[in-house]
Amino acid sequence: MNLPTEVRYRAYADWTDQEKQAIEENMAKSPWKASYHIEPRTGLLNDPNGFSYFDGKYHLFYQNWPFGAAHGLKQWVHTTSTDLVHFTETGVKLLPDHPHDSHGAYSGSAYEVDDKLFLFYTGNVRDENWVRTPLQIGAWMDKDGKIEKMKDVLIAPATDATEHFRDPQIFEYNNDFYAIVGAQNHDKSGFIKLYKATNREVTSWAELGNLDFGGTGSEYMIECPNLVFVDGKPVLLYSPQGLDKAELAYDNIYPNTYKIAERFAPETASLVDASAIQNLDYGFEAYATQGFNTPDGRALIVSWIGLPDVDYPTDRYDYQGAMSLVKELSIKDGKLYQWPVSAMADLRQSDEPFENKGTTLNCYELNVTFAADMTSTLVLYAGHNGQGLSLTVNTQTGHITLDRSQAGEQYATEFGTSRTCTVAPGSVDARIFVDNSIVEIFINQGEKVFTSRVFPDADQSGILVKEGLITGHYFELKN
Ligand code: FRU
Repeated sequence: MNLPTEVRYRAYADWTDQEKQAIEENMAKSPWKASYHIEPRTGLLNDPNGFSYFDGKYHLFYQNWPFGAAHGLKQWVHTTSTDLVHFTETGVKLLPDHPHDSHGAYSGSAYEVDDKLFLFYTGNVRDENWVRTPLQIGAWMDKDGKIEKMKDVLIAPATDATEHFRDPQIFEYNNDFYAIVGAQNHDKSGFIKLYKATNREVTSWAELGNLDFGGTGSEYMIECPNLVFVDGKPVLLYSPQGLDKAELAYDNIYPNTYKIAERFAPETASLVDASAIQNLDYGFEAYATQGFNTPDGRALIVSWIGLPDVDYPTDRYDYQGAMSLVKELSIKDGKLYQWPVSAMADLRQSDEPFENKGTTLNCYELNVTFAADMTSTLVLYAGHNGQGLSLTVNTQTGHITLDRSQAGEQYATEFGTSRTCTVAPGSVDARIFVDNSIVEIFINQGEKVFTSRVFPDADQSGILVKEGLITGHYFELKN
């Protein structure tokens, strides 16, 4: 939603209780609230931040402007979880309350260091002429959730970057701490800067150079770069805005992509033998995905189910955005797989054979197989007229199409109303999570993923096999 700058950057303290209550009341009227996904308590949720493990729990913050469905003065809002399925918002916040983050506590990461959680993030600072200075700064969060900001800037603006220089991710490799930061150069191409912490001191960062990951620079900015290790291989996850579609076909306003490399070589600031760029997700929205390696070595990721510069039907209820399920990464035959964490199965409260249903609560999981040698179409959110969100799988060609054109309220239609991907011919498995206005589809054990919003009409809550042969299980999920 477009709101005037003075509204979006109004000081938090200037919002009255009455105004805040009106926002909450408006939000409560939404017919589209999710049951088991993280949504903002109020306002806009965008990137996942500070995804980490510390003090016996997982921590996940989200970027938030609490006063409406717009990108305003951002804070981090804290949640914790022990199973990566049930998250509790704690009330802890990283506020834009310091001269180094006066115009927003922008995205960043977190890592346990010396019994505290180190938060590494971008302070968005603007002067009276609205000229931006991006500062990479830090804060400590203790076990009680008390936040103490560091007084010195950790990484000053890079001279080879424009004002677009942000989203530091800290990671550990061979007992050293490294950080990567997304950037735009003066020729308006995206790049990633690599740093190393001197003697593992997270207050002291030395530049190692611009990370060579085999990029072409066809994008104008790289947001939210993340490096995680999957079975020892570095996987770079990033959001290259404006990427040339000749380099990679995509439909969303901005893509979320990845590369798998053979080796991380800090001494040459490179990812050795990086693969071609790939789409991380084939759905209508998944962006700014953040990952980290757990102490036991798993690579976990979570995505923002939303996109910058897109208006959503929930905007009129003063909120926007959700977090995806937490997904674990693996590599099989050189391909990246994403799979919901195992505790997702704890939400199941019934196990029924899959069959057509006139109505559901739009809160379920399906585990289904599309039979070989035919075309089958599954309609989710099917209304009285049988129309809804259709997933068509041609198992002869391996073509999979998700069509949203008949599913409820339409938006962002200038980016198309269907999405496709291909897999090898043969029967296709799909694990599908439906949560009111969110659908996440994992094809063939997570080889391909479609993450999307759907804003169904009041009568759109059925499940229908429109053609072909689809068999499997239906699980109602805990609300
Ligand atoms: C990505 C992004 C980040 C930035 C944050 C601000 O969606 O633009 O690059 O840090 O959002 O909210």
